[in-house]
Amino acid sequence: MAAPAPAALLRGGFGPWLSRRMNVLKPLLFCACLIPFARVAYGIITDNLGAEPVDVMTRITGEWGLRFLLLTLLVTPLRRITNWNALGRLRRMLGLFAFFYVLCHFGVWLALDQFFDLDSIVSDIIKRNYILAGFTAFVILIPLAATSANWTIKKLGGRRWQRLHRGVYFAAVAAVVHFLWLVKADYTEPAIYAFLFALLLAWRIRHRRRRAS
Ligand code: HEM
Repeated sequence: MAAPAPAALLRGGFGPWLSRRMNVLKPLLFCACLIPFARVAYGIITDNLGAEPVDVMTRITGEWGLRFLLLTLLVTPLRRITNWNALGRLRRMLGLFAFFYVLCHFGVWLALDQFFDLDSIVSDIIKRNYILAGFTAFVILIPLAATSANWTIKKLGGRRWQRLHRGVYFAAVAAVVHFLWLVKADYTEPAIYAFLFALLLAWRIRHRRRRAS
């Protein structure tokens, strides 16, 4: 079947088109989400990650963890503003990718920075504020990832599940604080993330107040 022309898309509405194509778009997006991981894996296999491979792995996995966290939180406002309800079907996948990249990020630190040395791990978490903030974000995300399956929503009950999953905002705040505390000179990048997360949080609070009134 020929792809619809942009004008036809606008006439018919992008929402229904998106909904019909979701079965194709979702696997495509899944593959796209794996690109940063593939880049790191290829770099490791070909020994092509530069002079500081651990730093590169930490940077790529950390930044993508943060980006996916941001994208996950963007889904609901975008869905509400545009009425493209099919977007909601991407939220869980994006959230799980956020967790996946953070898990890789944590794994790199655990294995290649701390060499699984428990004393060093505990002292790093206690002594370095930015590690404590990152670790807090990671710990908050664990139960959210663990309860992402449909059956857990049923088991916990919709309200409890929703309350638990609001924790993603705390994780996002802790992750941004982690980034702000670890940079030494140029604060531009973490400041941009802080601003975007603040916007999303403000939208969420406004939306809740409107629904309550
Ligand atoms: C939600 C959780 C987390 C997110 C989103 C996150 C994100 C980031 C980001 C964006 C960076 C900066 C990358 C850059 O230089 O451009 C970073 C660096 C780093 N993160 Fe995380 N992080 C998280 C959790 C953790 C955890 C749990 C640990 C370890 C316990 C950790 C350890 C580090 C380290 C060691 C660095 C490099 C610091 C440096 O350059 O000196 N992060 N992280």
